[in-house]
Amino acid sequence: MSSESSSLIVLPQTNQLLGLYTIIRDRTTPRSDFVFYADRIIRLLVEEGLNQLPVSPHTISTPTGISYSGVRFNGHICGVSIVRAGESMEQGLRDCCRSVRIGKILIQRDEATALPKLFYEKLPDDISRRYVFLLDPMLATGGSACMAIKVLIDRGVPQERILFLNLLAAPEGIKVMQEKYPKVKIITGGIDANLDENKFITPGLGDFGDRYYCI
Ligand code: PRP
Ligand code: URA
Repeated sequence: MSSESSSLIVLPQTNQLLGLYTIIRDRTTPRSDFVFYADRIIRLLVEEGLNQLPVSPHTISTPTGISYSGVRFNGHICGVSIVRAGESMEQGLRDCCRSVRIGKILIQRDEATALPKLFYEKLPDDISRRYVFLLDPMLATGGSACMAIKVLIDRGVPQERILFLNLLAAPEGIKVMQEKYPKVKIITGGIDANLDENKFITPGLGDFGDRYYCI
């Protein structure tokens, strides 16, 4: 894993962020709080993703009649969530980009082998011309994310226009992704120690999808 690499961006580990993570990692946190505080982290990840997009110069006039040399974003984006857990990140993207198009890729890890299986994809027709915010809260072995990225590349999206947003990453998954897709930007809120024997992130936060939607 190369943390120096421009393809890996870790949110600043401020006291506020560490406090939010402490709440969602805590096994006693009830679902309503888990959702509320995970949503706050998701918002920070989306904002950081937007920070990474290129801009071009744009000059406007302010109400004082003075001209201001600003910038504007000149590309188009879309979101793609890896169902199920990735759907939790869609609202955070919509909160920042009102009418953003969102595609879905249904990939599930086999509970016994931890290997991913692709079931379904539905993506915007013009996805090859967009920056893609790939949404999934957990990067564990990297199997699911790599499978989703292959779907995007097969649809004509260049690696350098994919930004993979996740809340927690394991070094194993980062390494796999950096080796396979070095130009994809990984934007994460935290990097944990490693994976356990069940390929769960440790110390981790458990099964994100279950905690956000079920338990
Ligand atoms: C989780 C998570 C990722 C994947 C990460 O999903 O949301 O998609 O595991 O693991 P990996 O990096 O080893 O592939 P899961 O398949 O458990 O389904 P869920 O979204 O329904 O929780
Ligand atoms: N999926 C999760 O939800 N958590 C992990 O730790 C690994 C995969």
